[in-house]
Amino acid sequence: MTQDELKQAVARAALDYIKPKLYDNSVIGVGTGSTANYFIDYLAEIKADIFACVASSEASAQRLKSHGIPVYDLNSVDEVTFYIDGADESNPQLALIKGGGAALTREKIVAAVAREFICIADDSKWVKHLGNFPLPVEVIPMARSHVARELVKLGGDPIYREGVVTDNGNIILDIYNFIIPNPRQIEQDINNITGVVSNGLFALRPADVLLLGGKDGVKQIREG
Ligand code: A5P
Repeated sequence: MTQDELKQAVARAALDYIKPKLYDNSVIGVGTGSTANYFIDYLAEIKADIFACVASSEASAQRLKSHGIPVYDLNSVDEVTFYIDGADESNPQLALIKGGGAALTREKIVAAVAREFICIADDSKWVKHLGNFPLPVEVIPMARSHVARELVKLGGDPIYREGVVTDNGNIILDIYNFIIPNPRQIEQDINNITGVVSNGLFALRPADVLLLGGKDGVKQIREG
């Protein structure tokens, strides 16, 4: 199977996972990226059964709307039943690196609200230790140099992602060559730098379940 076929398989598995658990007012949180896009396309098949979605990016909101799926502002819903999103890396604790698509802050907000966070990924994203994928950090533009200097002190090599402005009007620094021995601590340390909006480590709020696609099918993994 190609990587794209694996992404389709996990997106389909996510739909099968949530379908029997939906109730009348279910609000589905929808992530961003190519795997999430497949999920959005499959979700359209059951749009009559869902109350509404909230989206973690303008791009995903547009895709949902193009299928005729109602998209609500997060502030106007009482709860998010499920949050379904891809990842750039997952470790066995289901701590993630996300933000390859620069949507990390809104993704983190929706994940924080969700009752259940279902991560969907092909098995190229499965790692023992996080950090091979450059860790994205969303930064207020005027703080770019300051934050970069502080990230160097933490041991990484931050690189400005040229030409990218987030949905929140900010910039992204990607941290290369960064050893992440304790993802929860590092997530907090980076958040403590003045000028950082958020970072792509999802360790304090990891996924609850990972649907991981490989050549033997889709595995359902919980923290182990
Ligand atoms: C978006 O900002 C990211 O967090 C994506 O969830 C992540 O990059 C995975 O993207 P793909 O599904 O395209 O691999």
